[in-house]
Amino acid sequence: MRLIVSSFLVFMMATSLLASDALLQNNYLRKGLTLNGKWNYIVDVYETGYYNYRWEPHDGSTNPGSGAFFLNEKPQNKREIIEYDFDMAPTLLVPGDWNSQKEKLFYYEGTLWYKKSFDIENFEANKRYYLHFGAVNYRADVYVNGKKLGMHKGGFTPFNFEMTHLVNAEDNFVVVRVDNKRAADEVPTLNTDWWNYGGITRDVTVYELEQTFIEDYSLQLDKENNKLLNGYIQLNGDTKANAKVTVNIPELKLNKEFTTDANGHVKFSIPTKKLNLWSCDNPKLYDVSFASGDDIISDKIGFRQISTRGSDILLNDEVVFLKGICIHEENAMRGGRTYSMEDAVTHLNWAKELGCNFVRLAHYPHNENMVRLADEMGMLVWEESPVYWTIQWENPETYKKAEQQLTEVVYRDKNRASVIIWSMANETPQSEPRLEFLSNLAKKTRSLDDTRLVSAALEVHSTVPGGNTMVIDDQFADVVDILSFNQYYGWYWGDIENIKNLKWEIDIDKPVVISEFGAGALQGYHGDSLTAWSEEFQELLYEKTLPVLNAIPQISGITPWIISDFRSPRRVLIPYQDGWNRKGLISETGNKKKAFYTLQNFYKNINK
Ligand code: GCU
Repeated sequence: MRLIVSSFLVFMMATSLLASDALLQNNYLRKGLTLNGKWNYIVDVYETGYYNYRWEPHDGSTNPGSGAFFLNEKPQNKREIIEYDFDMAPTLLVPGDWNSQKEKLFYYEGTLWYKKSFDIENFEANKRYYLHFGAVNYRADVYVNGKKLGMHKGGFTPFNFEMTHLVNAEDNFVVVRVDNKRAADEVPTLNTDWWNYGGITRDVTVYELEQTFIEDYSLQLDKENNKLLNGYIQLNGDTKANAKVTVNIPELKLNKEFTTDANGHVKFSIPTKKLNLWSCDNPKLYDVSFASGDDIISDKIGFRQISTRGSDILLNDEVVFLKGICIHEENAMRGGRTYSMEDAVTHLNWAKELGCNFVRLAHYPHNENMVRLADEMGMLVWEESPVYWTIQWENPETYKKAEQQLTEVVYRDKNRASVIIWSMANETPQSEPRLEFLSNLAKKTRSLDDTRLVSAALEVHSTVPGGNTMVIDDQFADVVDILSFNQYYGWYWGDIENIKNLKWEIDIDKPVVISEFGAGALQGYHGDSLTAWSEEFQELLYEKTLPVLNAIPQISGITPWIISDFRSPRRVLIPYQDGWNRKGLISETGNKKKAFYTLQNFYKNINK
């Protein structure tokens, strides 16, 4: 018995630790074979396809039993019993959450298996093959041709695995075990105010790469010198050392060659003549290509500087006021996770119509279409990691998960001009372990990218219960570049008529951004302005709140909660909520509420 256990344990350890490979930079514009479309699926409430009846993972054993779904087996003869068959199973669309696709899966939280068969046209044995996922919520165990590639946790960031050693030209299959069960030690944790959509929620793509290829690069305008581009290139492959790489920006007649070091890495600074800087009114993107041997990758990059001076936010050295709105990654009309460019266009056009130059993507990294479109539209972006409410601050494993997700989004979007703020967290309770947790995240962020601003959505409170003096006595306020807080005066507490009497004691010389305020309203429900849930109540709250916030001396931006109603299991009040958080300015049927125009007018007339 002992022998089997030890090899089983060793094999188990090896497979469960198979984390994802280094992320491919800019997969967005790399040529790839899409695996989007219909995937067969099996709902596995009892984890039958993953654990044997002794609750030992099938993929932890050297000869997994016939119950191991990742083998995608078929009976070889009329006697053999295989108690699952993906090809007889129904299908789900990828990308897409399962909750909005199947009535039976609307509330489902658990394990669901996906299978997709694929051939690789023009397969070349001397090329390398990667399998890339835009995101899978929450845990993904990935298998190709019956072998485990690895596991990834985190529902809102990309990951990929090399599968060169497993794939053929034809008859390949990928099996993904997706588990979106919530847990206390995960990120986010058990309790959130959004729907825990499960599934392969973003694109799945096969990339064919050279033996040595450009794995990663960065190219940003220097923080101080707006005629200097700083960047690096990282190669991956046997011939990565001392290799020639080039950076080419035709419009600037710039074509620079560099040589990598022994690790295939080269850091560089390139002086340039006067650049056409990216800004909200002039979202200029340059065509840039990076080459190494036969591997050439092109990107569209905008160059801009973002910084603070006292309580001002400076974009290219000019003061900018962030006229914002919060957005969840949900298409209210379809009632599911957004993933497409069409979805991004809907959301950012609504923001543009409001008069916004800024969006807070809450409370987790949204799909890449959002930031790519924001680059093109000149929309400034706040990106956030799902460190939300009561995370396990003292659990080092939880910290690792938070840091991994943060690293993945910084890695994906570091070349996006539109992204100006990395947010560490939302509404987290103060404590020493929490302060240490968030401070470490901020330090990590600045080590990955020191060209952007760090913030977090903190909480404000009155000095005495029911008092009119508002303070933010949060030590993390000393760590951030931008002081942001959520305030719900007039909704969760206080009488909206009294908001004009509030005093804001904010003795910090930093820009202040109000990351949330708002009120619930059922679109089409009308009453006097003190009737909760009526459009008039929400309208009044906006009318009263905006000038008060705008009078805060350090105010540099506002992102009201939220562009559209969104699903939340915490919102059960019939008839007003019925599973929806109703603080949207637009209903789930796409109808604008009165407060939409209140905010639109405010942004139109704000001379900032
Ligand atoms: C909180 C939180 C949001 C939530 C909102 C609300 O501040 O950050 O996620 O949806 O308030 O209560 O509507």
